[in-house]
Amino acid sequence: MFLLLSILIFLCYSETSCSLARDESNPFPWNKIRLPKHVVPIHYDLLIHPNLTTLSFTGLSKIEILITQQTSSVILHSKYLHITKTTIHKANDSVDTAKGMMVLEHPTFEQIALVSTEPLQVGHSYIISIEYSANLSDSFHGFYKSTYRTLEGEIRVLASTHFEATAARTAFPCFDEPALKATFAIKIRRDPKHLALSNMPLVKSVNINEWLTEDQFDISVKMSTYLVAFIISDFKSATKRTLRGIKVSVYAVPHKIKQAEYALDAAVKLLDFYEEYFGILYPLPKQ
Ligand SMILES: *[C@@H]1O[C@H](CO)[C@@H](O)[C@H](O)[C@H]1NC(C)=O
Ligand SMILES: *[C@@H]1O[C@H](CO)[C@@H](O)[C@H](O)[C@H]1NC(C)=O
Ligand SMILES: *[C@@H]1O[C@H](CO)[C@@H](O)[C@H](O)[C@H]1NC(C)=O
Repeated sequence: MFLLLSILIFLCYSETSCSLARDESNPFPWNKIRLPKHVVPIHYDLLIHPNLTTLSFTGLSKIEILITQQTSSVILHSKYLHITKTTIHKANDSVDTAKGMMVLEHPTFEQIALVSTEPLQVGHSYIISIEYSANLSDSFHGFYKSTYRTLEGEIRVLASTHFEATAARTAFPCFDEPALKATFAIKIRRDPKHLALSNMPLVKSVNINEWLTEDQFDISVKMSTYLVAFIISDFKSATKRTLRGIKVSVYAVPHKIKQAEYALDAAVKLLDFYEEYFGILYPLPKQ
């Protein structure tokens, strides 16, 4: 490893283009914009820790994958993420057996390749763990920073997601194609004074320490990566239930929560109406 690094550094100094030198010694093992079909994502365990003061976040994306054709590399999407550690182990083996993987990047296609020292075997499931950090986006897609002004004029920060169509890869490394559906178990770490929301209901909140709380959300239905959502804010909510008992909530900045009543009444009526109209029951426990 040290030797390889030395050669790379030497090449960087001796070549005009460092990326050219790196490409030659470690070519990216995939040359298509669409992901290969022989690594299938099954389940994601996501731990996201945003900081609304530093406007950055850290994450851990643990993905269970199924191998349908022997390969040594796992190709997936990642954009603007600084990957710090990557390991792999067989889903049935203990995490102690986890081995490090080499990370190669192909920014043009927003892909990374995680290269294993041993070939991954057909029919087996593996867990890849990717630790990373990134900045909250200044735009209105990906995992982005937003603000509002209180009645007193104070600016408060929140963080929210908008992933459709291809921005989930800017919040966590993933197989970011709509057909590659999987289940998601999401955990969000936040300041105790904030509130986190995600696709599924909160299962429990754990106090990590005095200044950090971890919210653990229920496992999702099988779905596309772009449907994953989470918000960290100090919003207030108003809640009602539909005829079938689906919990519907509207969230708003604290001083405007009284204005949410009309939206809440309409949402509850509409959910009842559409279940009847389409003859399809809303599949989630909350909206
Ligand atoms: C892994 O464990 C599951 C459940 O214990 C079992 O059904 C499966 O056959 C095992 N897979 C392998 C490849 O050993
Ligand atoms: C986040 O922003 C800081 C300051 O602009 C920059 O130094 C850092 O490289 C960025 N981090 C990532 C992962 O892009
Ligand atoms: C955010 O970072 C600040 C400054 O480093 C720290 O004091 C605070 O506890 C962090 N908050 C969270 C939720 O991590």
